Amino acid sequence: NTAESGVNPDDVKITFGKQEDILIRGGVVVNADMQFKSDVLIKNGKIAQVGLNILSPGARILNATGMYVMPGGIDPHVHFELPFMGTVSKDDFLSGTQAAVAGGTTFVMDFAIPLGREISPLEAFEQYKKLGEAKSVCDFGLHVAITKLNQDGDREKIVRDMAEVVKRGVNSFKFFMAYKGTLQIEDHDLIRAFALARELGAISMVHAENGDLVQEGQRKLLRQGIHGPEGHSFSRPPEVEAEAVHRASVIANQVGAPLYVVHVMSQAAMEEIARAKAKGYRIVGEAIAAGLTLNETAVFDRDWNRAARYVMSPPIRSIDDQHALVNGLKTRTLDLVGTDHCTFDTEQKRLGVDDFTKIPNGVNGIEERMTALFDRLVHTGKLTPSDYVRVTSTEAAQIFNIYPQKGVIAVGSDADVILLDPSKKKVVYHTEHHINIDYNVYDHWSFWGSVETTISNGRIVWNNGTLYTEQGTGRFVPTPAFGKMFHGLESETFHSSDYFAGHSNGKKKGVNRNGSY
Ligand code: URP
Ligand code: ZN
Ligand code: ZN
Ligand code: ZN
Repeated sequence: NTAESGVNPDDVKITFGKQEDILIRGGVVVNADMQFKSDVLIKNGKIAQVGLNILSPGARILNATGMYVMPGGIDPHVHFELPFMGTVSKDDFLSGTQAAVAGGTTFVMDFAIPLGREISPLEAFEQYKKLGEAKSVCDFGLHVAITKLNQDGDREKIVRDMAEVVKRGVNSFKFFMAYKGTLQIEDHDLIRAFALARELGAISMVHAENGDLVQEGQRKLLRQGIHGPEGHSFSRPPEVEAEAVHRASVIANQVGAPLYVVHVMSQAAMEEIARAKAKGYRIVGEAIAAGLTLNETAVFDRDWNRAARYVMSPPIRSIDDQHALVNGLKTRTLDLVGTDHCTFDTEQKRLGVDDFTKIPNGVNGIEERMTALFDRLVHTGKLTPSDYVRVTSTEAAQIFNIYPQKGVIAVGSDADVILLDPSKKKVVYHTEHHINIDYNVYDHWSFWGSVETTISNGRIVWNNGTLYTEQGTGRFVPTPAFGKMFHGLESETFHSSDYFAGHSNGKKKGVNRNGSY
């Protein structure tokens, strides 16, 4: 049905990939709050008009009959060219964002991680921002990871960096409670860092696993002679994830810091979020595509290369966990969905061929998230199309405080728009995907709901199976502090120094509202 959907391929005047006036006609616009039949006019990279029977002579016409016209997906959790576990993840900001737009995602948030090199959070932020600006084909934002508070004996350096990156457009800090010896931050630093983030109006994000227990579990399994990928799962059971969620939620609540738990993978961990929400804590839970679609049997594949593809942390769990997570989205115990896209090819995975603790952790998903979720959530009848838009786009835009610039089809918003055909199946083949690895964890899977056209800032970057991208067209979008998780806290006086008076050279000082001292 290529002739009637999307752009007519016979049109010789096609200027794909360039900003142009686009009139999307005859589709059903789906926002998080409602859906309605409407045309959408795009001018100068923005949505200019939403309504019936729009006329705009000279605009390129996209026929959206039978399609949903939705805000482009926002993936709040990706890792491009991440130096990690002795190697560097394969997809960079170019292949990663190309795959994103091919799958209907138009905004990604990566993590600037000062890892494997003695650089500061501010330097990591500037490095990642530069990489993203040079290579991205869609807009992006950044979180900054804090792995310690003491750099070169200077306990104030990181504190200054945190304030500075917030000024430069970061409203979220990531803390790893696992990966002991590399990324893991200790609890006493976590308390202070949450308080600092709270003071700055930035969200505290946690990778929640008890890294000390994981390390003990790994040692025990290796001693027992378990070296294969299944050891990865055995060393990180759900309790080890749930305990860290519980601990993080209590610490965050004690210091009044809003908390975002990334990649919730188990029912046990999810129940800790439900408990915290019931107590009134400011907490949100992120599911990832892999957790909602895959299950642990893959890690037990007799073929080592195949099993290793599914090694990520926290591990992919049981089918019961998978179903619980899907239902958690429905009941809003979980708030939104990312991917944690972090890819290593077979050769890189084989770094751990004799020792599961050395298998680089991570799975793909950026190109499949939108279609996989449409299939599992909407096609199954569990979520409405509006709920789908909320968990794949709007909620992230609101949490990271870039709504309504992103996350909605409305006049004045960025023209990040997708046309999704709910009656067409998308079949995934690793030979056709746009990511930079030699396999795909969804190889030969088919999903109801195919993204036929993707528009990024008024450019048609994906249409009928073809990419029209230009490297470097993506912009860094600053995420302002004090977003919706801080509602009601904006005007409260808060001194993080109250939580670590003893640490701060005895000096009691706070960071003021502008992030200066
Ligand atoms: O296994 C994973 N999740 N790899 C990416 C890094 C992280 O922990 O998010
Ligand atoms: Zn993680
Ligand atoms: Zn608990
Ligand atoms: Zn991650």
